[in-house]
Amino acid sequence: MTPVVVAQITDCHLQDDPCQDYRGFNVEQHLDRVVENLLLQTPAADLILWSGDLAHHGGPEGYQRLSQRLTELPVPSYWIPGNHDDVTLMQQVGSQFGGQLNQRSLVTGGWGIILLDSTSEPDGQGGGSLAQCELDFLQQQLQRFQDCHCLVVLHHNPLPVESDWQDQIMLGNADQFWRVLGQHHHVRAVINGHVHQSSDRMHNGVRVMMTPATSVQFKAACQQLILEDDPVLKQPGYRCLELYPDGRIETSVKRVAG
Ligand SMILES: [Fe+2]
Repeated sequence: MTPVVVAQITDCHLQDDPCQDYRGFNVEQHLDRVVENLLLQTPAADLILWSGDLAHHGGPEGYQRLSQRLTELPVPSYWIPGNHDDVTLMQQVGSQFGGQLNQRSLVTGGWGIILLDSTSEPDGQGGGSLAQCELDFLQQQLQRFQDCHCLVVLHHNPLPVESDWQDQIMLGNADQFWRVLGQHHHVRAVINGHVHQSSDRMHNGVRVMMTPATSVQFKAACQQLILEDDPVLKQPGYRCLELYPDGRIETSVKRVAG
């Protein structure tokens, strides 16, 4: 059985000026190394899912630079916003590059992949929710893909991570999200960004995977934001997923030298 190979890249926090640091790191170089590493993987990725916080409160420059680069990759990319993104700008820039970046659902290898915008009702601290239209879209797509295994992608974590400050800014209406998923038996996995750390667990029969950032990592299980200082865990990271036609998932987090 040949799997669909999916790469998840998240929380790049690109600056308008590529030389400008984010929390003391050149995140542009971090992303370069992640993409370089991803393109060397075997089996090669069939597609890349970019799960938000791609630019850090920037103007159009960060998105223009990133989208230009994505269209030059030998692998198709799809992006969704995070709390630090400008949704309107992303949509505008994405549509300048053929519109595929903004595509919100696809079917491949017996899998339906659904991408959601969780940036509604921002609380000003980083939190966000799924608007009613996003919940409706999720419901419609799950019905449409009822003969597939499904992977749902969003920026905000739909489960707490036992870090007080992060649990306050997780997906605001996670209960509604899980209620929709609970009506369907073919949802195999959810992946998210936002937490800048890795996690992999089961919830209500669905595998929930959280993925390190390409920019900087946050230490797990903390009262407040502390940058990761473990020499391995602090490295820029991304996730590879192999989605098999029988619904099985193989996954690993890759880390690259920062
Ligand atoms: Fe982030």
